[in-house]
Amino acid sequence: MTAPTAAAPLLSVRNLKTYFAQDEGTVRAVDGVSFDLSPGVTLGVVGESGCGKSITARSILRIVDRPGRIVEGEIHFRRSASNGAGADVVDLAKLEPNSAEMRAIRGAEIALIFQEPMSSFSPVHSIGNQIIEAIRLHQPVGRREAREKTIEILRRVGVSTPEQRVDQLANQLSGGLRQRAMIAMALSCQPTLLIADEPTTALDVTTQTQILELMRQLQQEDGMAIMLITHDLGVVAEMATDVVVMYLGRVVEQGPVDAIFHEPRHPYTRALLRSIPRIRARARERLTPIAGAVPHPYDRPSGCPFHPRCAEFMAGRCDRQAPTLRPVGDRHAVSCFLYE
Ligand SMILES: Nc1ncnc2c1ncn2[C@@H]1O[C@H](COP(=O)(O)OP(=O)(O)O)[C@@H](O)[C@H]1O
Ligand SMILES: [Mg+2]
Repeated sequence: MTAPTAAAPLLSVRNLKTYFAQDEGTVRAVDGVSFDLSPGVTLGVVGESGCGKSITARSILRIVDRPGRIVEGEIHFRRSASNGAGADVVDLAKLEPNSAEMRAIRGAEIALIFQEPMSSFSPVHSIGNQIIEAIRLHQPVGRREAREKTIEILRRVGVSTPEQRVDQLANQLSGGLRQRAMIAMALSCQPTLLIADEPTTALDVTTQTQILELMRQLQQEDGMAIMLITHDLGVVAEMATDVVVMYLGRVVEQGPVDAIFHEPRHPYTRALLRSIPRIRARARERLTPIAGAVPHPYDRPSGCPFHPRCAEFMAGRCDRQAPTLRPVGDRHAVSCFLYE
């Protein structure tokens, strides 16, 4: 692919803040996140559990549960010209979650797949009927045509004998097949952006490899952008063109995948890399877990949120001021006082 990042962004998130105001305090789940995503690009979003990856995705789709709320920031999304709306850029953060425009975008132009397919399918309707409904919600096609499209897309995502599978319930399928069916549902409306939130975390290694390969192949055919959320850096190394590293609701480092893996700058990124098995690991390579734990959301550290766990902590600086993202290379930026 020739420099896909040179294309105008499909999605441009700016200073996004999504907070949960509760009696016990405010959880700043997403606290000033910015990144761009261009067509054909796979952006890997990584970070330990609780760092705000899913809430970032849910904010884009405007499906954050109460009392969560976008309190600041912009989510510019370039609408697909084929949807009759013209290729306009809309700020999703300004739309009502249940507005006609948001509903036309959600599921059709931006699709979501996630870890547990069981919860995305009704247990009492066949997977086929649910995909048919999704198609008919966004496209003016009759039932028979939608059913044919459904069978075709099930075949495309590698479901064998789709003519029979189409009438099965989700719980009659294996985990891998259910995940393929969810991908089929997500792709049924030809989205320009696919958000995949830990799509393979619940799968065994072989099935995981197959699902990732499928996503890669579908992306090559359709040219969609993928936002791939995972805590698994191995998955990122295989799939992503660009990487965003999140910690406690902030982007601490971002850049092309090679820069992140070969010249990681942020102590958190380096620690994350040391904590995973190498892709081609020598049998007994030692892994170093990251010291300490992600703090409780109500006890957010002052200054740089990573400072209590950081090996390169500078007293009087990192605990007093918050660093900002600064460029350290071509499209590579880091938020750390070591580089200011
Ligand atoms: N419904 C909710 N109410 C309150 N806090 C929430 C809710 N959902 C998520 N959070 C908090 O938001 C933060 C980010 O969560 P999340 O985006 O799910 O993390 P990740 O996907 O990176 O594991 C966490 O501290 C989590 O506890
Ligand atoms: Mg999550």
